[in-house]
Amino acid sequence: MSKLPRKIIIDTDPGQDDAIAILLALASPEDIKVLGITAVAGNVPLELTAKNARIVCELAGRPDIPVFAGCDAPLCRPLVTAEHVHGKTGLDGPALPEPQMPLQDLHGVDFIIDTLRREPSGSVTLCPLGPLTNIATAFDRAPDIVERVQEIVLMGGAYFEVGNITPAAEFNIYVDPEAADTVMKSGIRITMMPLDVTHKALVTRPRNEAFRALNTPVGRAVAEMTDFFERFDREKYGSDGAPLHDPTVIAHLIAPRLFSGRFVNVEIETGSELTRGMTVTDWWRVTEREPNAMFIGDLDAERFFALLTERLARLPLPPAG
Ligand code: BDR
Ligand code: CA
Repeated sequence: MSKLPRKIIIDTDPGQDDAIAILLALASPEDIKVLGITAVAGNVPLELTAKNARIVCELAGRPDIPVFAGCDAPLCRPLVTAEHVHGKTGLDGPALPEPQMPLQDLHGVDFIIDTLRREPSGSVTLCPLGPLTNIATAFDRAPDIVERVQEIVLMGGAYFEVGNITPAAEFNIYVDPEAADTVMKSGIRITMMPLDVTHKALVTRPRNEAFRALNTPVGRAVAEMTDFFERFDREKYGSDGAPLHDPTVIAHLIAPRLFSGRFVNVEIETGSELTRGMTVTDWWRVTEREPNAMFIGDLDAERFFALLTERLARLPLPPAG
């Protein structure tokens, strides 16, 4: 018997790597059913992330995917953005047309709440790829949905790789640490993709060329997106290419065996000015604190990029039925 695709909500702040994560999900209908995409303020302000999510759905040939705008600022702090990485639009690199598909009227947080209440309990996975504001707001407003979530697979945090926005913190967690704290304390099964693993998913020159060689609008756009943010990451890390953070979340849903990690305790620093947003991870299990997350530390990068390139080659998919 073939297994049913896993139902997910993608919560996102596109961002080139968010865009590639969305494309990977939409290219994988046998594994994943995208119920909707909720945009959040993060890499760029909400107006742009909500627009970019629609640009990406249209690039994938899926204008039928409902896209919702969620929260425009963190729970209790001013928004910090990352145009220095992603460019002014958040999706700098390829020239992509303005979206024609509408933004849904419903608020993204209401979509998350309604969907979790409507779908059978334990059947919907949340995939946050940006700050956790929408997710925490939904849990706060509708505590009954928490136990209905199947799993949260998120990109955020860092431990041995320390920080990319401050010396101690990864961007998604830093932007809204109070929201991250709510999520980490929710009791839901959580799988985390921290910088420790995403910094091993590097778009080297041959991997970038493999996207371009698909010779499709999607392949070219992805090559141009990764070209764009490579400039920044190469200078910053002196590495072989840009880390492809967010697609690791979707790849983990499709092929969890490509990844390895440890089920450990992760706490969020919300107080200290110096280390705010740090994900304090008990990797060596030196405390009695209860494990609350599968903290992924490694991946098979060759197979990850092979999977990604093979799936992107499918887009746009022919209409279903
Ligand atoms: C995360 O921050 C954003 O810039 C990326 O889209 C990714 O979600 C990496 O720290
Ligand atoms: Ca992101």
